[in-house]
Amino acid sequence: MNPPDPSLAIRPMIIGADGLVGSALAALLEPRFPHTVSATRTEMDIADRWATELDIERLDPTVVINTAAISNVDEAEQDPETAGEVNAEGAANLAAICRRGRRRLIHLSTDYVFDGLAGREYEEADLTAPVNEYGRSKLRGEEAILAGLADAVVLRISFVFGPGRETFFDKIARQAVSGGGPIRAIDGWVTKPTYNRDIARAVLALIEDPGASGLFHFANGGAVSRFAFAREVVRLAGGDPARVEPVAPESLDLPAARPAATPLATGLFAARFGWAPRPWTDAAREYLAEHPPQAAP
Ligand SMILES: NC(=O)c1ccc[n+]([C@@H]2O[C@H](COP(=O)([O-])OP(=O)(O)OC[C@H]3O[C@@H](n4cnc5c(N)ncnc54)[C@H](OP(=O)(O)O)[C@@H]3O)[C@@H](O)[C@H]2O)c1
Repeated sequence: MNPPDPSLAIRPMIIGADGLVGSALAALLEPRFPHTVSATRTEMDIADRWATELDIERLDPTVVINTAAISNVDEAEQDPETAGEVNAEGAANLAAICRRGRRRLIHLSTDYVFDGLAGREYEEADLTAPVNEYGRSKLRGEEAILAGLADAVVLRISFVFGPGRETFFDKIARQAVSGGGPIRAIDGWVTKPTYNRDIARAVLALIEDPGASGLFHFANGGAVSRFAFAREVVRLAGGDPARVEPVAPESLDLPAARPAATPLATGLFAARFGWAPRPWTDAAREYLAEHPPQAAP
């Protein structure tokens, strides 16, 4: 008799499966675990606790991965009620559902739970102090999960790029190959750009290690301002980095404040899983080679 196939014992459910992180996760997990369920917002609204519970009970995943969020920082500032319903109460709903059904929960969170004033990389145990509604709603979601579910994982990530939906990276890369005038980027908001496919690999490592629980940080190596990021993306895309001009954050009248510098320390993740995230520029080269930017018409 053949030994049981371990991939059949793990039944992941990805919530927010057509988002930037969710789509990379679906692409990695679906071929690996035949019982993967990928749920988009129209199929599962985590703000609706009872419908979500019915669906999760019916589909019976062993591990629920929540990538669903109001992820647009200015949108969250302008509509804090909806941000709270999804980022905080939606996360709390999943914690209650997973506790009752004895399911593991892996939840994605953000570097924006910090105020960005530390002047060094943030460890998992550092004090949180979000400066905007997005960060506050995400922090309430983290707290509900960690308080309610002993074996849950909260994975904080930062400034995502990659295939799935258009990001700042894609806009800059497109401008780089389109020629023309200056490319403007904020001279601030220092963080570690992170490739969605590397995040998917980190989530896979968490899925395959059922003993991992609590908070982890995951981000590619290299902290940059938006200006330094844009310059590097232009260079990697074959354009002229001198076209990138810095813009002072105060000069933009944006609804939400941003933390000054939120680089995540990833030593805990590396020690647990035996691999360190690669530099973001290596990931960016891979992404650009597979998805060459198209010049604007
Ligand atoms: N993107 C970043 O730079 C970044 C940085 C740090 C942390 N994060 C965190 O990483 C996670 C994934 O972010 P992402 O960039 O993949 O975001 P995303 O591309 O905006 O994807 C989020 C998904 O959640 C869905 N969603 C929204 N409200 C929902 C609800 N009530 N029920 C179910 N699904 C809902 C969205 O659907 P619709 O599109 O139809 O609204 C979207 O498909 C989030 O927890 C985010 O806070 C992201």
